Amino acid sequence: MTELQTNTKPILLSGIQPSGHLALGNYVGAMRNWVNMQEDYFGIFMVVDLHAITVRQKPAELRQRCLSFAAQYLAAGIDPDQNIIFLQSHVPQHAELAWILNCFTYMGELNRMTQFKDKSLRYEENINAGLYAYPALMAADILLYQTDLVPVGADQKQHLELTRDIAARFNNTYSPTFKVPEPFIPEAGARIMSLQDTEKKMSKSDSNENNYISLLDPPDVIRRKIRRAVTDSATEITSDSIHSPGVGNLLTIYSVLNNQSIDDVVNHFSSQSYSDLKNELADALVAFLEPFQNRYDTIMKEKGYLTKILDDGAKRARYMASKTLTKVHRKLGFVPAGRP
Ligand code: TYM
Repeated sequence: MTELQTNTKPILLSGIQPSGHLALGNYVGAMRNWVNMQEDYFGIFMVVDLHAITVRQKPAELRQRCLSFAAQYLAAGIDPDQNIIFLQSHVPQHAELAWILNCFTYMGELNRMTQFKDKSLRYEENINAGLYAYPALMAADILLYQTDLVPVGADQKQHLELTRDIAARFNNTYSPTFKVPEPFIPEAGARIMSLQDTEKKMSKSDSNENNYISLLDPPDVIRRKIRRAVTDSATEITSDSIHSPGVGNLLTIYSVLNNQSIDDVVNHFSSQSYSDLKNELADALVAFLEPFQNRYDTIMKEKGYLTKILDDGAKRARYMASKTLTKVHRKLGFVPAGRP
């Protein structure tokens, strides 16, 4: 694609916070669909580092993780010639539009956000204004690019609904300015659960690493974590197993990785033991993650390649974002700035 070429495909946009270890839940709920949909859309994929600092991060780790996550997007199969990949902090328009959208977001709306409530309980000592206003930044991420579709896991649905409300509110106050985006939440795998605590979702920043599979876990670790995954007191798989939280979660992961319907998977394992399911699932995960990790290692060794992709991505993103931001300034009544 030539530099700054305008595209004609609809826009698909999504992002992941560089915290913890990119995990199987993120892949199944989000990244997998980015890869699958990239043919039909112009994809904009971000590593959202501005979001990550709502929780304290160690600077050296954050720096490394941003590069590592971007490399994992590539290793998963995002084509950098057809899409853009960038780090959110390289595009200052995100923070600028977030401020403006804060002025169009009600505290009552932010008070209802379940992610804010959850994180306030988890990080009691640091309930900062950024954590609270986070959804307005996420709305800015999306609205800056006139996005059509946002593929995310089920936990982001509420933020997407608020983004749509903010866009409609701005459009109604002034005149149509933002495209009102649609969420894309997959039917299967939108909420992968923790392996040890089936009441909560699998989280990449969980303090217990047995709760999640990192996309960079070596085969022996993957096998161990799956072997230890919580099931229930029955021993073999039946048509009811899908309703059992732990076993249902393992069946769902298996079905998504093998591109099979959940009914086919239940039939396949019918009357087999839980350890048969765990062994086959671990094999499938290792077979999927080994080539992914090889591609990742190659990309990480070529630092210049990754930096170039991120620089190009940020340049294109700044160009697209500045067009929307200029329009927003005009609608608001800001005096146009002279050229630098
Ligand atoms: P984050 O970083 O928590 O998660 C990244 C993506 O992974 C999905 N996900 C899951 N899907 C299924 N099962 C799970 N257990 C699971 N855990 C996480 C999330 O739904 C998400 O799609 N606020 C966002 C990041 C963001 C963003 C955006 C997303 C910032 N700006 C603009 C889309 C568009 C977040 O915290 O995701």
